[in-house]
Amino acid sequence: MSRPILVHNLPDFEPTLAPGFRIALRTRTTQELLAAVTAGGVAAVVLNLNDPHTLTTITQIVETQPALGIVGVADRSDGALVLTALRAGCTEVTLRPLSQEDVCTALERASAPAGTTAGGQTVALFGTIGGAGTTTLACHLAVECAATTQQPVALVDLDLEFGGVAGAFDSAPNFTLADVARAGVIDAALIERAALALPNGVRLLTPPPELDDARAIDAALVLPVLHAMRGLYPVSVLDLPRQLTPLVGAALELADKLILVVQLTVPSVRNARRLFGALQREGVPRERLEFVVNRYRRSLHLLTVATVEQELGRPAFGVVPSDFRAVHQALDTGRPLADRNPVRAAIQAIAQKIVGDAPDAAAPRNGWRAKLGLAR
Ligand SMILES: Nc1ncnc2c1ncn2[C@@H]1O[C@H](COP(=O)(O)OP(=O)(O)O)[C@@H](O)[C@H]1O
Ligand SMILES: [Mg+2]
Repeated sequence: MSRPILVHNLPDFEPTLAPGFRIALRTRTTQELLAAVTAGGVAAVVLNLNDPHTLTTITQIVETQPALGIVGVADRSDGALVLTALRAGCTEVTLRPLSQEDVCTALERASAPAGTTAGGQTVALFGTIGGAGTTTLACHLAVECAATTQQPVALVDLDLEFGGVAGAFDSAPNFTLADVARAGVIDAALIERAALALPNGVRLLTPPPELDDARAIDAALVLPVLHAMRGLYPVSVLDLPRQLTPLVGAALELADKLILVVQLTVPSVRNARRLFGALQREGVPRERLEFVVNRYRRSLHLLTVATVEQELGRPAFGVVPSDFRAVHQALDTGRPLADRNPVRAAIQAIAQKIVGDAPDAAAPRNGWRAKLGLAR
């Protein structure tokens, strides 16, 4: 049975673009649209993001019918607009030229009952000092989250210029964030194709090898990519560069958890305290902020975990011992850490906490994933 949708101010939106859906209503003015939305009965609204008042309209729809899916149609060059639309409450975005595949994917996801899309968590890791082990932990955490959930888990290297994630796995992905951002793709199917599938369940999305290509990435288009990933993977792990760029700021806004990677040194802990303070002043809720102690060696440090916990006003989310050989060998060879390795146990415990926080992380995904043959 086809599901009814409402198409607003998009005369070029043909019924053939959305098999499985039926254009029950076309509206032209905001008034007509809001009246129809209030009346209910549609599975999703498709609207033109290039309309002058589109953001206000989206906000009004969200206020009237918070559970109603909204699919925005935008031009490929509209990175910044797409970003604001997603922030305003637009559920999905599809780009011109419209294709049946993209439109259907967006509609499927937007019209799915609440809780079946965008259920994934975004976990961002940020180093408090150079060499704290942020990239290393991000890589291992993604591997352990995939093992724990038995589902593919995304790992995105947002250090666009000097990222080391691909290197850590000794892999050279054919597609990079530059390709995804260039395609302007907000579409989950393409992300699934572009992300490099590693045998350990990790799906890698990394920056291009050349600096010039990395610099050319439109940061505004990376956030919609991360947003789309939430509908695709139970967990997306982000390795952030140690800079507070607009991209990092946007990623932090999206992240359900920000994990600061701390070493038991005075400068590292001081930076952690400053970061927590600054982020909380920016309005990031305290419960999203965690820290992990990395490279821990008993009785080697002047500081103890307990004093750092006191200083930062929260318990450590994890304490990962120092074991240089283990962290290296495992990623290079593509094999997980040995079962009884203490580094692995510590990272497994962190993965457990993350996945345990996600209500449906272990549940099989349904909807469009199944349709694409991706559910497992
Ligand atoms: N738990 C650990 N034990 C031993 N060495 C580690 C550990 N975590 C990271 N390292 C090493 O520390 C160095 C810096 O790690 P990296 O992940 O690149 O840090 P960052 O991304 O914070 O700059 C690397 O050589 C890495 O292998
Ligand atoms: Mg790094």
